[in-house]
Amino acid sequence: MTAAGEFPEGFRWGAATSAYQIEGAVDSDGRSPSIWDTFCARPGAIIDASDGSTACDHYHRSAGDVDLMASMGLQAYRFSISWPRVVPDGVGAANPKGLDFYDRLVDHLLEAGITPLPTLYHWDLPQALDDRGGWLSRETALAFADYTEVVVARLGDRIDTWATLNEPFVSANHGYVTGEHAPGQRSRRAGFGASHHLLLAHGFGLERIRSLAPHSRAAIVLNFTPVDAVSDAPADLDAASRQDDLENLWYIEPLAGRDYPSATADALGWDRSEVHDGDLALISAPIDLLGLNYYTRAVVGADGPVDLPHVPRNSMGWEIHPPSLGRLLRWLRDDYEFASYLICENGAPLPDLQRDATGSVIDADRIGFLQDHLLEVADAIADGCPVEGYLVWSLLDNFEWAWGYGPTFGLVEVDFESLERRPKESARWYADVIAQNKVPPTG
Ligand code: FCB
Repeated sequence: MTAAGEFPEGFRWGAATSAYQIEGAVDSDGRSPSIWDTFCARPGAIIDASDGSTACDHYHRSAGDVDLMASMGLQAYRFSISWPRVVPDGVGAANPKGLDFYDRLVDHLLEAGITPLPTLYHWDLPQALDDRGGWLSRETALAFADYTEVVVARLGDRIDTWATLNEPFVSANHGYVTGEHAPGQRSRRAGFGASHHLLLAHGFGLERIRSLAPHSRAAIVLNFTPVDAVSDAPADLDAASRQDDLENLWYIEPLAGRDYPSATADALGWDRSEVHDGDLALISAPIDLLGLNYYTRAVVGADGPVDLPHVPRNSMGWEIHPPSLGRLLRWLRDDYEFASYLICENGAPLPDLQRDATGSVIDADRIGFLQDHLLEVADAIADGCPVEGYLVWSLLDNFEWAWGYGPTFGLVEVDFESLERRPKESARWYADVIAQNKVPPTG
């Protein structure tokens, strides 16, 4: 038994980023456009009309960023690989310069004693593939397998854990149903096809990881938003359960060897024409760990989402609700049999208005957020939830998709004019947590 706020020996601490959000250098060294480059150019798509063309310029500053991570004592770094940098046409020839970048990054991380945790797909599909149907086409899942092979063949000797996809729910839902993300389509029907092809890509990619890197572990990263009904009225409960199916169960159930939530699939009229014989077996091939991202819960009623008054919210309006993380971890423990869980993203965009005399951000609210969530994680572990690590979203302030550069999630502030990095108070606090493997109690 560990005391409150203490973590087991070997618990892995780190931070996460993704390629399009930090790398910049979108035209450099043979990278081709991704769906996000295209989407950002669409008027009105991004709140502040910005894009990831420079972002944090991590592509040219990765060595310094690794030093920064080392100075914080990070033990693991989750980043994503940009498919259009590595296989610019989506299929076919690899781009050696793109691969060289990740090769150097991995070596720097290992030299600094930081475990590299690459994710193969964090939303930046090569535009060339979208031109041929994107995630509405089964061919994209096959292309993902070939791309996986290229990356694993080059880096696989140094990677202990691969993740295939980041948050297929968001790719399918925001990209194809609501249109708030690239490629900006708006069709419930398209969302079903996209979700299946994404999971299929995971399955095909996993096969390649298994054959090329049998010594590595493999994962997929899902986001979870626990759903509460606003009341016990049957219509509210039904609406909450429908949302839970679409957002939380839709991906984990097929991965766990079950089916897509069939009541919701039927009610929404999905004919499953994309699902071929054998697909579900492929999708449910065993993984070694499940990555999970947690930010908020949802409160839902028959008429849609409900914004509870007087609850704490981050600067994107998401409710801050640490107990839902503990509840999520216990639900996973009870309903599924994945051997291990890694919290791949948790964090908050907050206003970051206060500074000390040296100008560095004093983000007591972010420290409070991390502390409250970590205390939930420590409790859940003490309760038998097999959580092996925690990665803060995010290492750096970065390009927050449709929200542009407004929301700041970083432990480290980035000045987007000078591109200077300045650790916030939370970075120093987190370094201390890592050094002690312990979160101080509140109050
Ligand atoms: C997650 C994404 C990540 C970041 C955070 C805030 O859904 O995986 O890229 O945008 O949200």
